[in-house]
Amino acid sequence: MKQGIVSDSEPSKLHQQWCILLSIFAMFSISHSFDYGEALSKSLLYFETQRSGRLPHNQRVTWRDNSGLTDGLQQGVDLVGGYYDAGDNVKFGLPMAFTITMLSWGVIQYHKDIVHAGEYHHALEAIKWGTDYFIKAHTHPNVLWAQVGEGSTDHYCWQRPEDMTTSRRAYEVNATKPGSDVAGETAAAMAAASIVFRRANPHYSHLLLHHAKQLFEFADKYRGKYDDSIDVAKGYYTSVSGYKDELLWAALWLYKATHNEHYLHYTLKNHEDFGGTTWAMQEFSWDVKYSGLQILASMLMMDEKHRKHKHILKQYLSKAEHYMCGCLGKNNVTNVQRTPAGLLFIRQWNNMQYVSNAAFLLTVYSDFLKSTNQMLDCPKEFVDPDRIFSFAKSQIDYILGSNPMAMSYLVGYGSKYPQRVHHRGASVVSYKKDKGFIGCTQGYDGWYGSREPNPNVLVGALVGGPDSHDGFRDERSNYMQTEACTYNTATLVGVFAKLHRSETDDSFC
Ligand SMILES: *[C@@H]1O[C@H](CO)[C@@H](O)[C@H](O)[C@H]1NC(C)=O
Ligand SMILES: *[C@@H]1O[C@H](CO)[C@@H](O)[C@H](O)[C@H]1NC(C)=O
Repeated sequence: MKQGIVSDSEPSKLHQQWCILLSIFAMFSISHSFDYGEALSKSLLYFETQRSGRLPHNQRVTWRDNSGLTDGLQQGVDLVGGYYDAGDNVKFGLPMAFTITMLSWGVIQYHKDIVHAGEYHHALEAIKWGTDYFIKAHTHPNVLWAQVGEGSTDHYCWQRPEDMTTSRRAYEVNATKPGSDVAGETAAAMAAASIVFRRANPHYSHLLLHHAKQLFEFADKYRGKYDDSIDVAKGYYTSVSGYKDELLWAALWLYKATHNEHYLHYTLKNHEDFGGTTWAMQEFSWDVKYSGLQILASMLMMDEKHRKHKHILKQYLSKAEHYMCGCLGKNNVTNVQRTPAGLLFIRQWNNMQYVSNAAFLLTVYSDFLKSTNQMLDCPKEFVDPDRIFSFAKSQIDYILGSNPMAMSYLVGYGSKYPQRVHHRGASVVSYKKDKGFIGCTQGYDGWYGSREPNPNVLVGALVGGPDSHDGFRDERSNYMQTEACTYNTATLVGVFAKLHRSETDDSFC
């Protein structure tokens, strides 16, 4: 379904012909030209694949079917829905919430570009599939169900979600067993999503904000790391950075959603104790939110009404600059490592998450600098917004195939992409084609070990990607490189939309 496209005045016939000529010329003159619009559409399909619960009639990824229909039943709570995070069938609350926060940020920032590409409706659906679940999971002001299923029994099996025989036990955080990180991130996700739905669905937006405020209060009042309360999260999504980054992050999102000074003051008051202005990071992820919140805080500075807080906001800015300059290789000492072909490289396991996140943050900040007529002040030199954006684009182009393997790490895009993604559902025959039950270890014997390509293409998934030397082994057992996660793709949505817009209607055509 296409949403109304905001069109400028109707171009003249002659102008149109001239534009066609120009674009033919561009086709031959640009060696690597990617179809970002196609990448955007595909990235949104991926979220349909990762759906848990009862699939709707308009589900476009038809090789999937209903699953997890008794989630929460054992604990007397309805937890049907939400997303599987990656190649397994566990529903992990922390990365799911981060996925929704970042999808929402992308839609807030690149709203017009997503509308222009005709993908606005799909983007909203991707967010709502997550927030509908969070509403169910937040059963009491101080209770959040933060996980369904658990890693060890799930990983013991290789089963389609439609066949699951593994434990579907649900786990909660509450006043006696707190989880400020997962509650904080869920508050951030719901606050950000409330901004997204403000105009499209005001009632829903209001409901999200109500939950976000309660969750933030709960997260702040009963402090603790969620994996100390939910032991089974440890080793899968351990909150290594603790919960202080999520508290600051949630407060900033609530401030953006409500304009209530209370939340801004929280961020200012706790800037030091919570590490907001002391941590200088090189990575931004589902675990470590410091650079994202530092960038959000920095962007408040240009607003006249925040002038009186300039002193603290400047400290946030200095750490935000450290992150961005590090990505650009413009710090004097600590810069992010790169592969020989120029891909940002943080670590071996699922490196692409850091790449797509960095590309997003850099793109957002370059837009901000451009609109406020500023440059990025790095120790080595000043960097103008166009150069920041062109670096972000280089990372996106690497993802789509401009790399030594000539491989698109976005599955289903281009002519060469990973064929053996580490993903239970995609690697086993579709339930729609063969409803015969495939048992726990039967999947390992029959499908996991096969050298054949996956029978189902996991369209729009961004896999872990290459090693530090741009090498990639397309094997199902190589999960560090061939597994994809919802939060890898989440940050691509907005950037694809912006790239698509800037390629299709430059200033003249
Ligand atoms: C809080 O959660 C724990 C499990 O994380 C559970 O054992 C306990 O009963 C819950 N407390 C309340 C008051 O519901
Ligand atoms: C970085 O290096 C440049 C040139 O060597 C020097 O002028 C500048 O003071 C250094 N900046 C910092 C913050 O150390």
